Amino acid sequence: MNAVNRQWLLASRPVGMINESNFEYREAEVPSPGPGEMLVRNLYLSFDPAQRGWTLDRASYVPPVQIGEPMRAGAIGQVIESNHPDFSTGAIVQGTFGWQDYAVVGSGGPISPMPVPPGVPLTLPLGALGITGLTAYFGLLDLGEPKEGETVVISGAAGATGSVAGQIAKLQGCRVIGIAGGPKKCAWLTEQAGFDAAIDYKSENLDTRLRELCPSGVDVFFDNVGGSTLETVLGLIAQNARIVLCGGISGYNEVEPPPGPRNIMNLVIMRGRMEGFIVLDYANRYSEGITKLAEWVMGGKIVYLEDIQEGFENIPKTLQRLYLGQNFGKQILKITDPPLEIPGS
Ligand SMILES: NC(=O)c1ccc[n+]([C@@H]2O[C@H](COP(=O)([O-])OP(=O)(O)OC[C@H]3O[C@@H](n4cnc5c(N)ncnc54)[C@H](OP(=O)(O)O)[C@@H]3O)[C@@H](O)[C@H]2O)c1
Repeated sequence: MNAVNRQWLLASRPVGMINESNFEYREAEVPSPGPGEMLVRNLYLSFDPAQRGWTLDRASYVPPVQIGEPMRAGAIGQVIESNHPDFSTGAIVQGTFGWQDYAVVGSGGPISPMPVPPGVPLTLPLGALGITGLTAYFGLLDLGEPKEGETVVISGAAGATGSVAGQIAKLQGCRVIGIAGGPKKCAWLTEQAGFDAAIDYKSENLDTRLRELCPSGVDVFFDNVGGSTLETVLGLIAQNARIVLCGGISGYNEVEPPPGPRNIMNLVIMRGRMEGFIVLDYANRYSEGITKLAEWVMGGKIVYLEDIQEGFENIPKTLQRLYLGQNFGKQILKITDPPLEIPGS
């Protein structure tokens, strides 16, 4: 066991693009678990665009991270010492363990600790078989209600959530167009992930290309980006279209929120529906989603990419990769290999 608990604390609330100066490195004592608690050693950290919002001092679906607290983050860890009724020493667990080597974990919190099933690659529960996969599953199927033959457009399509959403739409028999930044991501979408077409919004005119590719309009738009992307697609929806507001990453680092889409009246004209959601609200259906996703992912029907950085010192700058479009697939950082033997392996 390390002699110290390395941590990255939130040092200041970001204004504009979040960066390393918003965090402070500290070495603390390794904590001890109390009754009903366990000590978890972090192995892999998840990086999620929503973390930018958690650093702000404003009411949201989870409380803000306080200045001086370890930055909140999803993680995969190993139980080093346990007084917890549900987990034994050596078990691999998933939870919100934060930017630190060690966390003392009880029950509860925004995401209660969950076991990682044996035989599953350790990183998968952070992405395709975790929150991003579940977000794609419930957002697309419950809110998007895609039907065979419909045209589905996905923004942030080469990312962790978008890539799974698009492939689920393909499995429903839809025609799927992805919007992503750069030729490499677009090539992956059409050549590996089975999308029918991909638009590189950084080098192509989105409006022109969408008009060419969706002559009958867009039936379902699964939006991860917001801003001008949302406005453009809103102008091209088919009658009774469903717009799923999954996220709006283009605005997360803006000092002032961008103005809303100017053509929102198109929802009225086209009798469309636009609806946001938070995946945590589906917690009581996670097992349904994971079962289905596991069948598709393990059966090779959904492919996924992971972008695994390394090094505790690189944690703050890895978060920024999401907002710069540098990640190619689910953004993860490896801290260490499991220090103890994994039971049953
Ligand atoms: N509603 C929920 O419960 C829920 C849950 C999880 C995630 N989400 C949302 O889902 C979205 C995707 O999250 P993720 O974890 O899967 O991340 P991700 O898509 O793997 O990574 C973020 C991607 O966003 C794109 N991006 C960044 N800045 C952009 C900009 N200014 N304009 C256009 N695209 C930009 C980049 O791709 P390009 O290189 O293609 O630009 C980047 O790779 C986020 O909006 C997130 O907040 C929502």
